[in-house]
Amino acid sequence: MSDHDVRVYEVGPRDGLQNERGAIPTEAKLRFIDLLADAGLREIEATSFVAPRAVPQLADADDLLTRMERRAGVRYPVLVPNERGLARAEAAGADAICVFTAASEAFTKANINVSIAQSIDAFRPVLARARDHGWWTRGYVSTAFGCPYQGEVGEAAVVAVARQLVELGVDEVSIGDTIGVAAPGDVRRVVGALLHAGIAADRLAMHFHDTRGTGLANVAAALELGIRCFDASTGGTGGCPYAPGAAGNLATEDLVYFLDREGLTHGVELDALLVAARHISETLGRPLSTKVGQAGGWRVP
Ligand code: HMG
Ligand code: MG
Repeated sequence: MSDHDVRVYEVGPRDGLQNERGAIPTEAKLRFIDLLADAGLREIEATSFVAPRAVPQLADADDLLTRMERRAGVRYPVLVPNERGLARAEAAGADAICVFTAASEAFTKANINVSIAQSIDAFRPVLARARDHGWWTRGYVSTAFGCPYQGEVGEAAVVAVARQLVELGVDEVSIGDTIGVAAPGDVRRVVGALLHAGIAADRLAMHFHDTRGTGLANVAAALELGIRCFDASTGGTGGCPYAPGAAGNLATEDLVYFLDREGLTHGVELDALLVAARHISETLGRPLSTKVGQAGGWRVP
């Protein structure tokens, strides 16, 4: 998928918007997705085919995906919790899906109303059908560093769930710090355990929420361990309705600036990305809270 050093996996249209209360017109979401592709993003998580009652903001998923302009070379994954979601995704023309579960039972129950084991069972037919279609697939492991209901989550629980997703054949597992509590030592502990369990670094992505300002420090730690895919949200929006305390995802503009300065290629152009960030800021009617969204890149005088 990428000739670059790092894959920047954009979750703004999905994770970024799913917890927004005000109605966002489908048109504005489609424009956001277009501007993200203009900026060079090649993986843009577009929406979720979940129960509209669970996430009202993404109730327009069918309409959005059907109308979305698909650019060559861009992957537009969508979240699918069950066979009902899969059927909707198929009808709307998806070709990349993400299933999602968690390392803590309490969060899994709150988020998708099943146990972890039941979620894995439910994914089996979904992923089998996706494989038959030749689709790209990803599995999320949420609450890998802490759970809003249970507290600390040990790395053994993360490894156990990630392993089951790999056994189900997902192309990639994204490890989520859903409520943004991790620091670099936690990243070394959890990612170290995943690598030790035999899950290759190129099948892992990290999904950091920047709730407490540790997002980029966590990226740096994961890079040192060989992880090369990072989830981020342009404009720094984000949160999960079932994770009290979850604030914005790591901002894509902060990540891109950091990677540029580190000399790592990723294919995203910062100034163009800031156009997308401003669009979403105007759509939501509030100023950007991200560091690079406020300061811009550094133009060396
Ligand atoms: P449930 O209530 O247990 O399921 O929900 P159900 O099968 O009893 O269905 C209830 C109703 O929803 C029924 O409708 C179904 O037809 C309908 P009713 O008969 O009441 O009118 N329904 C659906 N409708 C449309 N599409 C579907 C679908 N499925 C059922 N796919 C369910 C279970 C999983 C559906 C629900 O709990 C749900 O949709 N949860 C999604 C929650 C969610 O999207 N959370 C945010 C994403 S995860 C996240 O943000 C974390 C992540 O970013 C990583 C990280 O940060 O860690 C990925
Ligand atoms: Mg998230």
